[in-house]
Amino acid sequence: MKLCMIGTGYVGLVSGVCFADLGNDVICVDKNISKINQLKKSIIPIYEPGLEELVKKNYKAGRLKFSTNLAESVQKSDIIFICVGTPTKKNNYEADLSQVISVAKEISKNIKSFKIIMNKSTVPVMTGDKLEKLISKKVKKKLFSVVSNPEFLREGEAIRDFIYPDRVVIGTSNKKSNKILKNLYLPLISKGAKYINASRRAAELIKYASNAFLATKITFINELANLCEKLNVNIEDVSIGMGTDKRIGGRFLRAGPPYGGSCFPKDTRALVATAKKTKTSLSVINTVINSNENRSQLLLKRINYILKNKIKNKKITFLGVTFKANTDDMRESACLKMIPYLNKKGAKIKYYDPTGKKNEFEKLKNVEFKNTIKDACVMSDLIIIHTEWNELKLIDLRKVVKKKNFIVYDMRNIYSPDKINKQNIKYFGIGR
Ligand code: UGA
Repeated sequence: MKLCMIGTGYVGLVSGVCFADLGNDVICVDKNISKINQLKKSIIPIYEPGLEELVKKNYKAGRLKFSTNLAESVQKSDIIFICVGTPTKKNNYEADLSQVISVAKEISKNIKSFKIIMNKSTVPVMTGDKLEKLISKKVKKKLFSVVSNPEFLREGEAIRDFIYPDRVVIGTSNKKSNKILKNLYLPLISKGAKYINASRRAAELIKYASNAFLATKITFINELANLCEKLNVNIEDVSIGMGTDKRIGGRFLRAGPPYGGSCFPKDTRALVATAKKTKTSLSVINTVINSNENRSQLLLKRINYILKNKIKNKKITFLGVTFKANTDDMRESACLKMIPYLNKKGAKIKYYDPTGKKNEFEKLKNVEFKNTIKDACVMSDLIIIHTEWNELKLIDLRKVVKKKNFIVYDMRNIYSPDKINKQNIKYFGIGR
């Protein structure tokens, strides 16, 4: 099939490349000329394992093209995917739909034959209705169909998540579109993905509900971890004990820093904003947002306790600063709150991250990036393991730190407290 992906961020680029790999002809469109020129040279704007190889392969095979010409790309394609950002508005919790609206306007100027307009951007319920109304001002209704097709891929696991999704959600009551789209997704359905055809509004809500539920699960276990610290219970036992009940499920039940990234914080806020408009109380999600926003402060309190209220001049190392592993993304990473705070209190901070130095800390005096784990740790008083990168899981801490007494604060519970204690290293984890 002939597909056009508008927006070459995570969702647009990954889906476009994966659709091409399934044998479709795909044009990825972006208004950013330098991004498109780079992509034509297989230079990938985001850090995503496996993506570069897949771009190269499909570009070479001629199934994948990159363009800045939206009009031409829309005209040449049968299915148009809207994959642009919907960030939180500056002055409230609502999703900013300006990019989605502007793309829809452009699409509407270029429809001459039947097109399916798939919305993959995360948008509030009824945005599909709005887009349909907007496009029908320029185009006859029988020439287009607006469908909601939420995406559930995770940064760092995006390709695998695209190829082996648990489900494909198609929000439409248009039979013709449904038939075409079932065919488009057939290679994934035949590998076990469940195909769910729902109403367009339900599909839009499924996306928010899924992210909000996962955020709730994480917040739930994080709060229980706080309790475990008081009761001397290991949260890891609790996670396993709960998670093996199939009704609960063990995934997204790992306690750690507050959840971050570009999705959970943004989408929980947007869902609450939608509910507010309809005067519906989503008290659980409201509580989740507040609990998560307060969590960095809680972890800082614990650092204070670990260092016996003496932060000034302490040498603190952060291992991993991105919001999670396998991404270079710093958005809503807890480090953005913790590092400046500790820096202000007079700590001398070194950090290491496999994805390199971060602009976010550039202006902070006494915050220094180190190229190796060893250089970051060598004279440290406190090592904070913030991100669960694989390469941080088997460090011989006694070897890399050239000091007799130092402390480890393992925010991802990667290390065994017993093993670390046996080496005469003081160990703190989350909820244990
Ligand atoms: C999330 C969803 O998982 C995807 O399904 C969705 O498509 C995506 O948002 C989106 O809306 O685009 P992502 O933000 O890439 O994906 O990252 P996750 O792997 O979900 O992690 C989010 C946060 O939760 C991270 O800070 C992570 O460290 C944290 N987390 C996750 C935990 O603290 N504990 C867990 O057990 C799992």
